[in-house]
Amino acid sequence: MADFDTEGTLADRMRKHASDEQHLYGHLMRAMADDWDARGPVRDICRGWENAPQGAVVQLRLLGGLFRLVLTDRAPDLVPFYPSLGGNEPPAKAWPHVRRVLGEHVQELRRTLDVAPQTNETGRSTALLVGLFDVVRRSGLSKVRLLEPGASAGLNLLVDQFRFESPTWAYGPGDSALRLVDAVIGPVTATPFEIVERRGCDLAPVDATTPEGQLTLRSFVWPFHVERHERLTQALDIARRHPVTVDRAGAGEWLEERLSAPAADDVVTVVWQSITQQYWPLDETARVDAVVARAARSQRVARVAMEFHERATAELTVDLAAADGSGLDGPIRLGDVGDHGTPVTLS
Ligand SMILES: C[S@@+](CC[C@H](N)C(=O)[O-])C[C@H]1O[C@@H](n2cnc3c(N)ncnc32)[C@H](O)[C@@H]1O
Repeated sequence: MADFDTEGTLADRMRKHASDEQHLYGHLMRAMADDWDARGPVRDICRGWENAPQGAVVQLRLLGGLFRLVLTDRAPDLVPFYPSLGGNEPPAKAWPHVRRVLGEHVQELRRTLDVAPQTNETGRSTALLVGLFDVVRRSGLSKVRLLEPGASAGLNLLVDQFRFESPTWAYGPGDSALRLVDAVIGPVTATPFEIVERRGCDLAPVDATTPEGQLTLRSFVWPFHVERHERLTQALDIARRHPVTVDRAGAGEWLEERLSAPAADDVVTVVWQSITQQYWPLDETARVDAVVARAARSQRVARVAMEFHERATAELTVDLAAADGSGLDGPIRLGDVGDHGTPVTLS
């Protein structure tokens, strides 16, 4: 995990994340923080995670584990609080029911903390698309080898199967089940490309074609984001018809292996990553930086990233290898991105 922001207690970090949000998870994160302070079941579940940094988002791991219990019919009292399951009870009333469920499943919930949130958010494909347009336009190469470290189930590797629409431009198959409308603020030049190869890796890859994988993905979509649940349903339908390969591996080791074999001369390799680097240890980040920089001296490689840096908003950056073999040009910031990929606000 990235080694930043471990100030205060775990409860403080939960409260910071919750802020004064009035949605279900805002209420639950504040109540979980109070319960941790009061040495309730949250303290038992989170034992060993006291010093986890903010970026490890322990609270989201726990809420994902809780949602999994609800989705597998083991917490029927909670269904009325989960809008994606048709619930509409006030979120402020959920905590006593949640506390009881947490207390009944301490061991199982402890195990769910080991896996980083598998929020495979297809809204983030908007950032990838904008980055691909930029790379294809600047490199003059329209064939793309797409590599994604930290891909989760690899849903965003299917970017060319999604439909993007706005009044001034459109991209992707008109009959796609997944439509992203008005997802970019600012001028876009849609530049055609063809993905000739696609592959991802993850420390804990999810198979989107299995019921277990689908349950995992659903449990990490916030239950009151009903539109995102619909988007996931549509993406899973596409993934069933276009399965992608996501290898079980760490980002640096995997990229070293993939980039050791260059693509054909008329293909640009795009290393794409979104909301994964905050979970990487510092040496993983250094290894990825080094391997991409090395590859950029002998291959047409670009790095497209949607990650948090200093600011509270995620940024979309593109770093393209110069055509003369002198290496990466240095990252260009294309814009800001909402947590779930939309909107992308171009600079
Ligand atoms: C929040 S998810 C984001 C998934 C996907 N990139 C997206 O934006 O939809 C973070 C992913 O990073 C993966 N991950 C964390 N550390 C990793 C590492 N060192 N190498 C590869 N994947 C990692 C996690 O398993 C998880 O699937």
